[in-house]
Amino acid sequence: MTQPSDKALVPFVSVDNMMRLVHHIGVERMITQIAAQIESDFKRWESFDKTPRIPAHSPHGVIELMPTSDGEAYGFKYVNGHPKNTSEGLQTVTAFGLLADVYTGYPTLLTEMTMLTALRTAATSALVGSYLAPKSSRVMAMIGNGAQSEFQCLAFKAMCGIDTVRLYDTDHAATEKCASNLKNSGLTVVLCKTPEDAIEGAQIITTCTADKKYATILTDNMVGPGVHINAIGGDCPGKTELHRDILLRSEIFVEYPEQTRIEGEIQALAEDHPVTELWQVMTGQAKGRRDDRQITLFDSVGFAIEDFSALCYVQSAIKGTDFFEPLDMLADPDDPRDLYGMLMRAS
Ligand SMILES: NC(=O)c1ccc[n+]([C@@H]2O[C@H](COP(=O)([O-])OP(=O)(O)OC[C@H]3O[C@@H](n4cnc5c(N)ncnc54)[C@H](O)[C@@H]3O)[C@@H](O)[C@H]2O)c1
Repeated sequence: MTQPSDKALVPFVSVDNMMRLVHHIGVERMITQIAAQIESDFKRWESFDKTPRIPAHSPHGVIELMPTSDGEAYGFKYVNGHPKNTSEGLQTVTAFGLLADVYTGYPTLLTEMTMLTALRTAATSALVGSYLAPKSSRVMAMIGNGAQSEFQCLAFKAMCGIDTVRLYDTDHAATEKCASNLKNSGLTVVLCKTPEDAIEGAQIITTCTADKKYATILTDNMVGPGVHINAIGGDCPGKTELHRDILLRSEIFVEYPEQTRIEGEIQALAEDHPVTELWQVMTGQAKGRRDDRQITLFDSVGFAIEDFSALCYVQSAIKGTDFFEPLDMLADPDDPRDLYGMLMRAS
């Protein structure tokens, strides 16, 4: 058996290596660094190809492809969303992703992205929070205490100065899991029995629930003036978290309107309802929070450029380390046109 040539090899980051990388860097530090990469890519928004992600819906959930390119590198993420999975011992969201060189079309990185999605989603949320949440924010309500929740809490601690999280989930076991995982985080953790209790005194409300329906995690009367809402879980047609009246009282900020109008909370609103694009806030072309009574809403669905940023971050973070293995992924015949000969010589 001949050894694959260097051209055949693509760096592959397994789940195990991703976890080693995260521990090596530190969770909060890595979230903060990914956020910096996302911010710098959002600030050059116009250099990216953009398209709403491509979904394959089924009665069981959704499978999505999220591609983008800046003309030099191309990236995509494969991700699923299956809220029923946890009852079968499987995760709601799993993902992997790839970067490629636009010049040759050759892949340059293949990586797990289940961990990385949790990190990049939290990084995006806290980055947006750093622009929109009241500067005096110290308390965050965390509604939905599943796989993403600890990452969200730590991101807001690291980047927005949150020192207290108030946890609520319809399944109290999830709240206990989240509280236990955050035990030594430096956050004050309060376990709550109702969503009303969770939002008590919170300047930031994060909703991160999973249900394939129009849910009402927050009703209008629960949301007072001045709060920032970080709505993560409504990210699919027919799957939202907020009562429509909250949207009508909020200044709404989105990643990519063309995708958010299909998937986000704003699917409940008219197609021309005004929204502000976050890249414009980050470049100073649009205003973020205007006053301390305004309700700001990040209608998060997750956009391909965030994954591209995370992929580029990982690509540079693993350079010179052993947090990856070379994967024999690309056929590399001696004569590029003799693919068949390569196959026959291998018999
Ligand atoms: N916007 C983004 O970029 C982005 C990225 C990743 C995941 N998501 C979405 O975030 C959501 C959470 O993902 P996850 O991986 O943490 O899922 P998960 O299944 O691990 O956790 C979801 C939690 O929500 C709880 N829940 C369901 N209905 C609730 C309700 N009415 N009130 C309170 N809690 C409720 C469940 O008990 C569960 O603990 C999913 O909907 C997922 O699609 C969004």
